[in-house]
Amino acid sequence: MKKISCNTYNIHINNWDAVNEYITKGNYSSIIVIVDENTFEHCLPSLAGLLLQKFDIIEIDSGEINKDLDTCKGIWETMIDFGADRHSLCINLGGGVIGDMGGFVASTFMRGMDFIQLPTTLLSQVDASVGGKLGVDFNGYKNLIGIIKNPGAVFMFTEFLDTLPEEQMRSGYAEVIKHGLIKDEDAYHRDTSINDFSDMDWEQLVYDSVLIKKNITDEDPEERGLRKILNFGHTIGHAIESHNLDTPTHLLHGEAIAIGMVMEAHLSYQQGNITESEVNHIKASIINIYGHHTDRIPDIDTLISLMSKDKKNKGGVIMFSLLDKIGVGNYNQEVSEDEILRSIEFWKKTI
Ligand SMILES: NC(=O)c1ccc[n+]([C@@H]2O[C@H](COP(=O)([O-])OP(=O)(O)OC[C@H]3O[C@@H](n4cnc5c(N)ncnc54)[C@H](O)[C@@H]3O)[C@@H](O)[C@H]2O)c1
Ligand SMILES: [Zn+2]
Repeated sequence: MKKISCNTYNIHINNWDAVNEYITKGNYSSIIVIVDENTFEHCLPSLAGLLLQKFDIIEIDSGEINKDLDTCKGIWETMIDFGADRHSLCINLGGGVIGDMGGFVASTFMRGMDFIQLPTTLLSQVDASVGGKLGVDFNGYKNLIGIIKNPGAVFMFTEFLDTLPEEQMRSGYAEVIKHGLIKDEDAYHRDTSINDFSDMDWEQLVYDSVLIKKNITDEDPEERGLRKILNFGHTIGHAIESHNLDTPTHLLHGEAIAIGMVMEAHLSYQQGNITESEVNHIKASIINIYGHHTDRIPDIDTLISLMSKDKKNKGGVIMFSLLDKIGVGNYNQEVSEDEILRSIEFWKKTI
């Protein structure tokens, strides 16, 4: 059982009593739990067995494809049917899709009802549920419509990870590695020296990783500066993710980010910030966990065109968050096309 205090809310890890205490104190007019079919099956029973108050369930179809305004409309309509009001509580029980969308729906319904996050994937525990970014995809752009608003509280339960498919665990783990690379060298070395996921102290690992993200988002909630270091691996990673969408080589978010981190570590090396042996270590560690998929990278023109659509760009210039050294991230870095080309070649080269 652990607790992290953020600027405006608390994150509780493995503490069921804290959920009931929070709800009892809020004296809510009604409670709505948003789930998808997987969290309905695997996670809702634990929550339902514990809640002392009656609640209504809104079930949506799982998947990023459903993180859109149509699904929001369905949720808002069901909330009206259930008689929800501004004094109701919305509980988002799911991965990042439910957390981002459920938080957005709750924050906008009747100008905002309380919501709490119960993240059920590794990715949503160490990343999506912390920092208040909420929203949905729109017209093919990820997270285009949304707001930044913190939840009332976050309650994480590592028991939920027991039913998470291995590939989803690996995907979330990329953000754990990222947190080490940008903020904590020791954590990076510890987290990349693992052999398998079955014998790990997830409570401690989730705690350490969340603490890194929380310290960054507390300092810069609106991403004016420091928070951008969390985008390490994501400029190239998002482009690789988009390139492989709807193809047989489909990559999960973290799998794409893992490749992006190797290529962006190489950009950091080319800028003279990390050593050759460090970038080689990062590549070997990523390959050890994610394999070496050289066929997932688009050609340089496609990659640059995909990166040009990135929300982080400013005035048409592609901006990178790179490494000053292992354990220290930076941001607002410009790189040349040649440097990107060399980073593609570096990833493709057999080690
Ligand atoms: N707000 C942020 O700061 C932030 C940060 C990173 C990512 N995100 C967003 O998070 C989303 C990705 O989150 P995700 O990886 O959690 O995806 P997800 O929510 O789609 O969950 C992945 C899959 O796991 C299933 N699942 C969830 N919990 C389970 C459990 N305990 N057991 C078995 N299956 C379970 C889900 O039904 C889904 O099929 C993206 O939309 C991304 O944009 C947001
Ligand atoms: Zn990410």
